[in-house]
Amino acid sequence: MSYPIFSVNCFKFNTSFWKYMAVLVFASLTPAVDVLAGDSKHSSETQQLMRGAYLTRVGNCMGCHTAKGGQPFAGGLRLSTSFGIFVTPNITPDKGTGIGLWSKADFWQALHEGKSRDGRLLYPAFPYTEYTKVTRQDADAIFAYLQSLPPISQSNPPSDIFFPYNFRPLLAIWRALYFKAGVFQPEQSQSDTWNRGAYLVQGLGHCNACHTTRNVLGASKDDALTGGQIMGMGWYAPSLSSRMEAGSGDWTTEEIVTLLKTGVTERAVTSGPMATVVRQSLQYLSQEDADAMAVYLKSLSENESGTVASGVTFSVMTGSLLKHLNQGRQLYDKHCKACHGADGKGVPGIYPALAGNRSVMMNPPSNAIRSVLNGGYPPTTAENPRPYGMPPFQQILRNEEVALVVSYIRNTWGNRSRLITAIDVDRNKDSRY
Ligand code: HEC
Ligand code: HEC
Ligand code: HEC
Repeated sequence: MSYPIFSVNCFKFNTSFWKYMAVLVFASLTPAVDVLAGDSKHSSETQQLMRGAYLTRVGNCMGCHTAKGGQPFAGGLRLSTSFGIFVTPNITPDKGTGIGLWSKADFWQALHEGKSRDGRLLYPAFPYTEYTKVTRQDADAIFAYLQSLPPISQSNPPSDIFFPYNFRPLLAIWRALYFKAGVFQPEQSQSDTWNRGAYLVQGLGHCNACHTTRNVLGASKDDALTGGQIMGMGWYAPSLSSRMEAGSGDWTTEEIVTLLKTGVTERAVTSGPMATVVRQSLQYLSQEDADAMAVYLKSLSENESGTVASGVTFSVMTGSLLKHLNQGRQLYDKHCKACHGADGKGVPGIYPALAGNRSVMMNPPSNAIRSVLNGGYPPTTAENPRPYGMPPFQQILRNEEVALVVSYIRNTWGNRSRLITAIDVDRNKDSRY
C-alpha cells in the first residue's frame, strides 16, 4: 500500500498544543524527573508516559494523525494513494470520536494485528505491517501516552477508497497473502546495538513503508529496504542497501547519525518526503537510538562492492552530446551556479554539493528532476533551525531546459548518468507534493 504525502503540519498554537508540548519538554527532562519522583509507582507511570511520548515520535504517529493546521492526533489528514484517499482517524482519548473507550488490549490488536476495536480489518496505509514488530511493552507505553493527551472531539470525513479496494473484507485475502503478525526477533549473532537499530528501522521507524518496491496490490516485495517508487507520489525512495543509491556502508556512523538527525551532511541532503520524516520524527531520536540505527543501516551495504556512477557511461563524447551538455552548462551558470558553485561543490551545510552526489545521478531520475521543478528546503531541526532553501524552477524553465540542466549536472565534474529528456521532466510535473 502506498505511503502518504504528508505535508507541513502547522499547529494552531492553542491550549492542547501547549499541553502536548509540556509532555514533550517533560520527556526531554527524564533524568531530572527520576530524581524528583517520590513514590516508585508514580515514577514508573511517569517513566512510561515519557517513554511513550518518545516512542510516539519515533513512530511518527502525529505526522499522519494530524490534519494540515489541525489539532495534534485528532486525525483528518488526507493521504493520497493509488487506492484512493485515506483520511486518518482521531486517536486522541475522546470517547465519542477518538479512542477514549479503547483498552490496552484493543490498542495492541490495532498496532500488532491491524484490527480495529470492533474487529474491522485496517488498511495497511496505517503501517501496521511494520508496527507489528513493536514489543507489547513499547505498545503499552505509546497507548498510555496517547490516553494522557487532551481528548479532542473531532469526527473526520470517511476515506474515499476506489472500487474494489473499498470493500474491506477483501483485506482478509490481502492479509492472508502478505501480512504476518510478529514481534521483532533479535539476531543472536549480532550486537545489542545492531539489534536495537534493526528493531527501530524495521518496526516503529517503518522505513520500509517507503523504501521498498510494491506490487500492484501495494504489498512490499521484501523487507530488505531495497528501494522503490512511492505509490501515489512521484518520489523514489532509494535503496538503503545499495551503494549506488543510499547505502551507507562506506559512511562513518557519525555521518549517518548527522543525516538522520539534521537531514544534511556534506555529501547528502534529504528532500521532499524524507525531509518531512527527519523534521517530524528522526530529529528527536536519542543519541543512543540514532547510533543504533546507524550501525544497522551501515551493515545493510557493508559488504557490497560497486561504484557510484550508474547508467550509461560515455567513452567518447560525440559532437551533438557536447553541444547538448554545453547548453545545459549555460543554464547552470545562469540559474544554479550562485548556490551550487562552478565546481558543483556547493557550500557545506548550506547548499548541497551536486558533484559526486548520488541523488543527482540516481536512476530513476525523478528526485533530481523534482528538486529542480519544486525547489525545497532541508528539514527544519533543532540543530538546523533556519535551513537555506532552493527556489522552484517550474515557472522559470521550460521542460526542455530542465532536461538540459539536469542532464548537465548528471554528466559533469566526474558525474556520469543517463541523459534526461523533456518527457522525463513532464512525467514529474503531476506532483501533489
Ligand atoms: C503513514 C501514515 C500513518 C502513520 C505513520 C500512523 N498511522 Fe495510524 N492510521 C493511519 C490510517 C490511514 C489509518 C486508518 C486505516 C483504515 O481506515 O483502515 C490508521 C489507523 C490507526 C488506528 C485505528 C483507529 C481506529 O479507529 O480503528 C490506530 C489506533 C492508529 N492508527 C494508531 C497509530 C499509532 C499509535 C501510530 C504511531 C505508532 C500511527 N497510527 C501511525 C495512518 C497512519
Ligand atoms: C514517507 C516515505 C519515507 C519514509 C517513511 C522514510 N523515507 Fe527515507 N527517503 C524517502 C525518499 C523519497 C528519499 C529520497 C529523497 C532524499 O534523498 O532525501 C529518502 C532518502 C533516504 C536516505 C538518503 C538520503 C540522501 O539524500 O542520501 C536515507 C539514508 C533514508 N531515506 C533513510 C531512511 C530511514 C532510516 C527511514 C526510517 C527511519 C526512512 N528513510 C523512512 C522516503 C521515506
Ligand atoms: C538559492 C540557492 C539555490 C539555487 C539558485 C539552486 N539551488 Fe539547488 N539546492 C539548493 C538547496 C538549499 C538544496 C537543498 C534542498 C532540499 O533539501 O530540499 C538544493 C538541492 C538541489 C538538488 C537535490 C540534491 C540532493 O542531494 O537531493 C538538486 C538536484 C539541485 N539543487 C539542482 C539545482 C539546479 C539544477 C539549479 C539551477 C536550475 C539549482 N539547484 C539552483 C539551493 C539552490
